[in-house]
Amino acid sequence: MIEAAGLDSKDGLAYDQAVREALGEKAEQEVSSCETLEALRQLEGALLGKRSRLAQLHQQLGSLDPSERKVLGRLLNERKARLKSLIDTRRAELDRADEQARLAAERMDLTEVIAGRRRGTLHLVSRTQSELEDTFVGMGFTVAEGPEVETDWNNFEALNIPPDHPARGMWDTFYLDVGKPESVLMRTHTSPVQVRLMQSHQPPIYSVMPGRCYRRDTPDARHLSIFHQIEGLVVDTGISFSDLAGTIEAFTTTYFGPSIHSRLRPAYFPFTEPSAEFEITCTICEGQGCRTCSQTGWIELGGCGMVDPEVFASVGIDSEIWTGFAFGFGIDRCAQMRQGIADLRILMENDIRFLEQA
Ligand code: DAH
Repeated sequence: MIEAAGLDSKDGLAYDQAVREALGEKAEQEVSSCETLEALRQLEGALLGKRSRLAQLHQQLGSLDPSERKVLGRLLNERKARLKSLIDTRRAELDRADEQARLAAERMDLTEVIAGRRRGTLHLVSRTQSELEDTFVGMGFTVAEGPEVETDWNNFEALNIPPDHPARGMWDTFYLDVGKPESVLMRTHTSPVQVRLMQSHQPPIYSVMPGRCYRRDTPDARHLSIFHQIEGLVVDTGISFSDLAGTIEAFTTTYFGPSIHSRLRPAYFPFTEPSAEFEITCTICEGQGCRTCSQTGWIELGGCGMVDPEVFASVGIDSEIWTGFAFGFGIDRCAQMRQGIADLRILMENDIRFLEQA
């Protein structure tokens, strides 16, 4: 530290005093007690900027006696350099603290769930899906999956629904802005997984295919625009409609209990012929008739039928040798019926009171 010794003029002494006041210990303390980068930036401006006391002192140097000017100029520069380096150090400290705070805020808890200690529960839809899978696995089916983003060919064309077919109106589709217009979409049902399975596996096939589906529907108590289906496909020699009816009935009594049965009613789907809707005994009134089943005692669960030879043709399976049946129904609907849920939308709302119920 240069001491401005040997000053004898009044001006020189006053100048020396002013430098120590403006850029001395007080300023240094202000720097080290700055708590934010913004506060430091402002303080730096006030201490060393164009309109600071330092800038004034610089100007005043010129009016000092030349013999004193040299000493006081050095004093001023040294004070300035010292303050500048203190500010830089403080800025680095605050930068580091900011970075630490940011990292702490972004930290992800990747702790493994410790076996035996309960941390949350499976969502009702996930639980229903795995119970349905278990039921079918117990009946000799395997489980397969396919992607949620599908081609128009897998979702529609291979299933005997060419472009402009009026049956396309049965599925309000979300198309993706990828490739040719309307060539890529969010699958509207799990039926395209049948197509994938038949292309990649030789029959015999006994599989179920659960997964998420999407439709441009307005959600209400019985519909969601994002929902879950489970598809079934059997391809073998000598498969008949009675195998389909027997499989649906076996599933219904196993999954819903011995007092719930199934029945098939004629319907239309482009990918099956003949096609049917399957209904089960109303789980609310056990068939007595109530508001939920409109007094019929039955509730519709899904669609089914014998695989249309056109579908076999599009995946290269010889329909002279192989026959098969398929079915598809809503997983969310199953959960709704088994748990007596009045409004399906609760499944998607993430209300913690609903989620916490095991
Ligand atoms: N994919 C149909 C739907 O979403 C349901 C369905 C009907 C699936 C008949 C099938 C079937 O496999 O054979 O509405």
